[in-house]
Amino acid sequence: MYSCTQCHGGDAQGQTGPSLHGPDFHYAKNATNKGMFETIWNGTNGGMGAKGKGLMDPTDPTNGLKPDEVLQIQAWIRSHNDKLTGNE
Ligand code: HEC
Repeated sequence: MYSCTQCHGGDAQGQTGPSLHGPDFHYAKNATNKGMFETIWNGTNGGMGAKGKGLMDPTDPTNGLKPDEVLQIQAWIRSHNDKLTGNE
């Protein structure tokens, strides 16, 4: 999904990149939706590139995720955050 799976695994369980299942995140702010948006949009200093439109690919400002798409991905990630949502 959206290439995130290349690094985070098809179920966000972690692969090259860390698991996104929570509730403990490397960056504490990712427990909040605003914080996670910032992480996905801007990337991190520790190995994940920015995914936001205009930031993902400096040579093509139309490339990258729109804010709506980032929010959809976050909803999908949160659906795997069983300990945060109480599901599963
Ligand atoms: C090229 C590999 C790669 C891709 C593609 C990738 N990530 Fe990451 N991601 C990483 C790595 C590596 C880290 C750890 C970065 C760090 O510690 O600074 C990370 C960290 C994260 C974190 C923070 C996790 C934490 O514990 O705080 C989130 C959230 C995240 N990625 C979401 C995504 C989403 C959503 C996508 C798709 C839009 C995505 N990533 C695509 C490699 C990737």
